[in-house]
Amino acid sequence: MSSDQELWAKAAEKYHQFVGSPQDKLRMGLLYPTIFEILGNIQGKSLLDIGCGNGLFAFEISKKGAQVSAFDSEAMVNIAQEHFSHPNIEFRTHDATKAFPYHDQKFDVVTANMVLMDMKNIETLLKESHRVLKDHGKAVFSILHPCFTPPVGRFRRGILGRVNKKYAYFHAKNYFSPFESTKDLLGKKTNYYHRTISDYMQNFQKHHFVMTDIFEPKPNEQWIKNNPDLYHADHIALFLLFVLQKTRY
Ligand SMILES: C[S@@+](CC[C@H](N)C(=O)[O-])C[C@H]1O[C@@H](n2cnc3c(N)ncnc32)[C@H](O)[C@@H]1O
Repeated sequence: MSSDQELWAKAAEKYHQFVGSPQDKLRMGLLYPTIFEILGNIQGKSLLDIGCGNGLFAFEISKKGAQVSAFDSEAMVNIAQEHFSHPNIEFRTHDATKAFPYHDQKFDVVTANMVLMDMKNIETLLKESHRVLKDHGKAVFSILHPCFTPPVGRFRRGILGRVNKKYAYFHAKNYFSPFESTKDLLGKKTNYYHRTISDYMQNFQKHHFVMTDIFEPKPNEQWIKNNPDLYHADHIALFLLFVLQKTRY
């Protein structure tokens, strides 16, 4: 197990309590709907979910008729098996920095949701994703948006913003320097690795993926009205989703 995964394993139970809860509005209202839209009709397709966490995403996808393989640490997989098992899902304990336990060209789609920025080394993940995808298969990688995630900068109300939210702003400090930091996740520490968008693109190209689409989900007006505490999602992109296609090499 990688040291990144070890930290996540310690946070597993708390993370599970949060994921899909009424407080988890950004994932359920913004992130997952965007991924479901990208995936379209997934009935009968085979999908690998890397770093599946508590298994909620794998479960939702399996209900749409996909055959899902999913892996993460033992702590996460135990939770996933207990809460989100489904006849169409096979959960497994595995570390994405090691060769994947699947044969070549097994999957139509590979997903890694909110995983790449939590891993120090994504080389093996990309190489193996390419190997296990069918020709022209699709990879969907979602991350916290690297332009707007601390410690690159912070969203601030400021003096005027306290009077009127429309004057709140994002204060950027340093986008270009690669850095590692720990973030506090529900009282537990996990690692965060900043990469610029071009770092990601170069990595994807190196591993023979072409980008076919990119998404920065923005909530609609009604969603912002219903979730006034998350009004910053209307000002800055919180998530970035890369849609990639495997090319032959
Ligand atoms: C932010 S959580 C996202 C979980 C899930 N994909 C979701 O959407 O809720 C990051 C996940 O990446 C997993 N992870 C981190 N490093 C990993 C690695 N080397 N191999 C597999 N999973 C890893 C963690 O265990 C954690 O479950």
